[in-house]
Formats: sequence, structure tokens, C-alpha cells
Amino acid sequence: MTGKLKYGMVGGGKGAFIGAVHRMAAALDQQAVLTAGALSIHPGEAIESGKELGLADSRNYASWQEMVEKEAKLPKGERIDFVSIVTPNFTHYEIARAFASIGIHVICEKPMVNSSEQARNLISLVDKSGIVFGVTYNYSGYPMVKQARHMVSSGKLGTIRKVIVEYNQGWLATKLEETGQQQASWRVDPKRAGLGGAIGDIGSHAEQLTSFITGLEMDSVCADLTSFVPGRLLDDDANVLLRFTNGAKGILTASQIEIGHENDLRIRIFGTQASLEWHQENPNQLMFKPINEPEQILRRGNGYLCDEAKANIRIPAGHPEAFIEAFANIYRGVFAAIRAGKGGSKYGGSGGLEFPTVRDGARGVHFIETVVASSKSDQKWTAAKFES
Ligand code: NAI
Repeated sequence: MTGKLKYGMVGGGKGAFIGAVHRMAAALDQQAVLTAGALSIHPGEAIESGKELGLADSRNYASWQEMVEKEAKLPKGERIDFVSIVTPNFTHYEIARAFASIGIHVICEKPMVNSSEQARNLISLVDKSGIVFGVTYNYSGYPMVKQARHMVSSGKLGTIRKVIVEYNQGWLATKLEETGQQQASWRVDPKRAGLGGAIGDIGSHAEQLTSFITGLEMDSVCADLTSFVPGRLLDDDANVLLRFTNGAKGILTASQIEIGHENDLRIRIFGTQASLEWHQENPNQLMFKPINEPEQILRRGNGYLCDEAKANIRIPAGHPEAFIEAFANIYRGVFAAIRAGKGGSKYGGSGGLEFPTVRDGARGVHFIETVVASSKSDQKWTAAKFES
């Protein structure tokens, strides 16, 4: 497939957060054009948002249902090649299923769906239809995260013993949802966010980052979820002990009540030979600490990095790249798969163009379910209060 890809977007209209980021990411390499949209839950706002973005009236839809119906009737060369789903969590499943069913490739936000059952259904649909399905776990698009993955898989750390992954935020430390703040209001509502609060919203990123860099498979969890803000129905703080199948252990924390923290996603990985440390708020560097040697700071854009990291930069070292570029790297991987005609749930890119697939999305959904179930159980806790 040559030429620019045509895409549609569901959600991401006026006042929305992540839709605009997706549009920047899709546009960054001049490989895709926004051609259709159903940009809001409110029909009037959807049409108005589409006009502002320059959509043709015939492709500016009042609802995603109308978009599926009308795009399906267009000749193949005219209809959208893929759809970006940037709506609140509870809507992803129906929308993804509808577009996948008519053979349109999908880029879907996380958490992908609300249950493992829905996730399994999507996997079989993706396999049957052969479409490309990417999930925007965007942090795995960072070049220095690709470098970290390469260093782990090439044995630079030895055997992994321990992972500490944190996603620290403070923006929900008060009842922001009561002020009408759009992003807060659905994130704390189980009907719209799903089973998890902080664990679903940002813990899912922490889980995927761990899996992407280390390749470790999770065996079991011991979780403690809390809703600190009175009256909140979903967790705003999650602390989880992890056990991996190779015997490694981990700690995952995801919190939205940690005042003073913005998007403080960080990971530390400890092996028998060395450790690694990466911080999302300082993403152009990766700390490498080999045993009995001075620590090294590896920096994006330099010739000593692995090919996968080099394939994911656009400008020379020292000019910072960050969130948008990493997001665009996920899009670039999906574009390459679409152009190569390589779909299905098992293909997630290669040669630095890796992207999270429907299977990664499904693993993330299962993780949220497992953590919530573990937190509800008191099977693992040993009383620790000291009585004198
Ligand atoms: P938002 O509330 O800012 O925007 C949601 C948009 O979806 C709004 O335009 C709303 O009108 C629209 N919408 C809702 N239901 C719809 C429907 N049935 N049809 C058409 N449009 C509909 O939400 P935000 O923060 O942008 O989050 C959206 C999704 O993106 C969530 O799944 C969230 O978890 C994910 N997200 C991912 C991030 C990442 O770093 N990968 C960062 C922020 C959000």
C-alpha cells in the first residue's frame, strides 16, 4: 500500500484530551490524513469539532454507528484504512468490534476493554479478519525504552531479579470530579472507567512497560487498592506485589493522590549483573549501573545505542523528544504493519517498529481484573501491628 493512509477518529472532539495527541502522532511522519470522524458523544459537538478540523461534511458523522454504516458502503480506495478510538474505556469494545468487523484496522486506547471475555472476543475477531490492531501503550514508543528492552534481552543485566515500577500522579488528590472536570468525572465512575481507577488508568501503563522491557511473564499478584478520597467508588491508590514466572519479584505502585507528582512514571530493573533506571519525565536518558563499575548515562540520539532505539528518533541528540514523538512511534509501527499487510493478533511489528497489539491489551485487562480481585481478598495478609 502506498500513499497516505486515511483514518477516522471516534472521540477526541472539543474539550477532549488524548484525541488531539493522537492526531499529532498520526500526522508527525506525514503518513496519514484525518478523513472521517465521530468526534463526540454529543452529536452537535461532534459535527462542530469535525468542521473545525476540516472534515468534509459527508465524512463528519454525528455518531460512530453512522460512521461504521456509511464507511462500510464506500469503495475500498475511499473508505478509511484505520480508526483511532479515543473515547472513555467502557465504549472501546463495541466501537472496536464494529470497525474490525468491516475490515478496518484499529488503534485503540487503553485499557482496551472492560473484561477478559471482551478481550478474548476481540482477539478472535482480529485473527479472523486479519486486521492490524494497535493499543496505545505509548510509553513503549520511547527510544530509551527500546534501548532498555534491548539491553535486557541481550543479557546486559544478567538474570532479572526484581522490578520496581511506579506511576505517581497527584491530580485526583481532591474531589476534582465534583467540579465538572471532564477527564476526572468518567475516570472515577465504575460504569465508564471499568473495574479499576488508578490501577486501570495508569497502573495499566506500568504493567505494560514492565512486560515490554523485561519480557517477564506475571505469575501472581498481591494487591492493596484504596480509595482515599471519601465517596470515591474506584481506587485512587494501588500498591501491588508481583511474582514473575522466572522467580523474579516486583513492586508496582500507581497512585493519583500523590500530591506534587505529575506524570512520574519510572521503572527500575535489577539483574544479577547490572540495573537500569528510566524516568518518563526525563525520557531522553537511561541509567545503566553495571556491577562494580561506575554508572553510565545513555542518551537518545547517540551512535552507541541499539538499532531499535535509533529507528525511533527523528532529530539529533540534545534536541529533546518526548511524549508526542513516542506516541508517533506507536503509530509508525502500526502504519508499517498496515502497509506490509501483516495483521492478526500475533503481529506486533519488528526492527524497532514494535507496537502493542490486541494481545497486549488483553493481558492488561486481565492484569486489572486480577489486581482488583486480589485486593478484595485478604488471603495473603499477616498481621503486623506491634502490641506492647
Ligand atoms: P476525554 O474525556 O478527554 O475525551 C473523551 C472523548 O470521547 C470526548 O470527546 C467525548 O465526547 C468522546 N466520546 C465519549 N463517548 C463517545 C461515543 N460513544 N462516541 C463518540 N465520542 C464519544 O477522555 P481522555 O482523557 O481523552 O481519554 C480517552 C481515552 O484515552 C481513555 O480510554 C483513556 O484511558 C485514554 N488515555 C490514554 C492516554 C495515554 O497516555 N495513552 C492518556 C489519556 C487518556
